[in-house]
Amino acid sequence: MNLILLGPPGAGKGTQAKLVAEQFGIPQISTGDILRQAVKDGTSLGQEAQAYMERGDLVPDAVVIGIIEERLTQPDCQAGYILDGFPRTEVQANALAETLGKRGGTIDHVVNIEVSDEELIHRLTGRRTCKECQEPYNVTFNPPQREGVCDKCGGELIQRKDDDEETIRARLGVYREQTAPLVAYYEKQGLLRTVTGAGAIREIFDAVCGVVEGRS
Ligand code: AP5
Repeated sequence: MNLILLGPPGAGKGTQAKLVAEQFGIPQISTGDILRQAVKDGTSLGQEAQAYMERGDLVPDAVVIGIIEERLTQPDCQAGYILDGFPRTEVQANALAETLGKRGGTIDHVVNIEVSDEELIHRLTGRRTCKECQEPYNVTFNPPQREGVCDKCGGELIQRKDDDEETIRARLGVYREQTAPLVAYYEKQGLLRTVTGAGAIREIFDAVCGVVEGRS
């Protein structure tokens, strides 16, 4: 199963992608996580991406397309994958279609997670992320058992640099302008299903599984 999770910053793409990955035994491919790791490691990719990410802008298409093309050749993608945060522009979506076309692959489902702007800002300002395994938490909605410590790996929880209110608003603007048109793009292809991202994490997970399993 090849799945795309679409939605604005803070919609819960990463949270749901991790649950779907566990449930179906397929990898979560998050371009945001890959880029943040590259920044942390100080690689040339990280150095190129850092300023874009800190401003809340998109990293150039050619860079992220290259990352995805390479990642999809890895053996763990054979049985399927969840794309979290990619594609984000029509250029990226076309490049993905072309890459899959060459290999006889397809996208099976595109799940669009919808949440109001007010809720997104509330979620993102309260987000804490594990420095080691990237597990997302929220000080209000999904706190860890021990403050500042990841339940899964014991790593330190940090606040992302792009989770201050000004950068969040910039990211929402970029989403509306450059990524939201993908809703119509995938709708036209008959692949899009929209689920409400408001509600408990497990309820939303059930709705996402419903789409994937053909129950809704
Ligand atoms: P990326 O890391 O992809 O960030 P994003 O799209 O802005 O999405 P987020 O990670 O902020 O949110 P999410 O939807 O995953 O929500 P989460 O599950 O964490 O990208 C970062 C940057 O990298 C971009 O700005 C860009 O510069 C660059 N980049 C990445 N991909 C790129 C690409 N393809 N092209 C170009 N540039 C790219 O949840 C958010 C919070 O809400 C958490 O605290 C969570 O616990 C909480 N939460 C989740 N679900 C619920 C719920 N149901 N109820 C209450 N709280 C909830």
